[in-house]
Amino acid sequence: SRPKLVVIGSLNMDIVVETKAYPQVGETITGERVRFIPGGKGANQAVAGARLGAHTAMIGAVGDDAFGEELLASLQKDGVDIAGVRRVSGTASGIASIYVAEGDNSIVVVPGANGLVDPADIDRCEDKLKEADIVLLQLEIPVETVLYAARKAKSLGKLVVLNPAPAQELPEELFGLVDYFTPNRTELSGYTAMSADGDSLEPAIHRMMELGAAHVVTTLGASGSAYLDEVEGQLVRVEGYRMPVVDTTGAGDCYNAALAVALASGRTLRDAVEYASMASALAVTKFGAQTGMPTEDEVTRFAKEQGK
Ligand code: RIB
Ligand code: NA
Repeated sequence: SRPKLVVIGSLNMDIVVETKAYPQVGETITGERVRFIPGGKGANQAVAGARLGAHTAMIGAVGDDAFGEELLASLQKDGVDIAGVRRVSGTASGIASIYVAEGDNSIVVVPGANGLVDPADIDRCEDKLKEADIVLLQLEIPVETVLYAARKAKSLGKLVVLNPAPAQELPEELFGLVDYFTPNRTELSGYTAMSADGDSLEPAIHRMMELGAAHVVTTLGASGSAYLDEVEGQLVRVEGYRMPVVDTTGAGDCYNAALAVALASGRTLRDAVEYASMASALAVTKFGAQTGMPTEDEVTRFAKEQGK
């Protein structure tokens, strides 16, 4: 049967502006192109989870503006259950203003309705949480709500995955509620106040586990990802794939969703990490956060091509 995933988090409209160069402070420049693409770490992870075959429900909030409609429609198109997404009147939906220039991007997120997701929203969706195999969280909604949701999920005996992005100060209690903590290198370094480069990656992961995270999976961009093997107590690195990169926006979200779906299906951590690597490799080959998420069939085909 299909694994059941609940994603609690943000929905943003990504306003992607392509320019040749970044504007200087006080400067006005003419850009090349603008596109409006559904995004937000939570919604991206929900869409990816659904495309990868999980029964997926989203908990979050949008405003009562046109973006809110589009964000909901985008989730629905992929079969995500949106009953847990509240429409807040008199509030704007979250947006991410993304400048793409010089092969890089910079992002300003304005949370809007995402900033209003509260414990009552979580309580209202208790039935969904009860049915879930796994609960996936990020940090684009208030931290108090994330903490509340993690407590509730744990008390219901659910597996909890926390993608601690964007990085911010977290209450220590939260670490102890997390089964799988998935920072990138910069986030890992921030949460542990340690370097996470080269040889310091392993000590940083150990520190993160001392802080309470049961498992730590670190994403390393094009270099793949790494986790600590429970039995051997040693760092396992899983190589990334060399792909023609079109857009990396949402690749981390794809990784997290794939990891959660694989774990919810009862796969080992090793297999789940392999699966997440393949799914996120495919995500970078397509434009847009949600539009670029691969399907289960696409990952299966890619795995065969790679001889896995
Ligand atoms: O992780 C990518 C997402 O982060 C984008 O879709 C954007 O909305 C930002 O929140
Ligand atoms: Na993409």
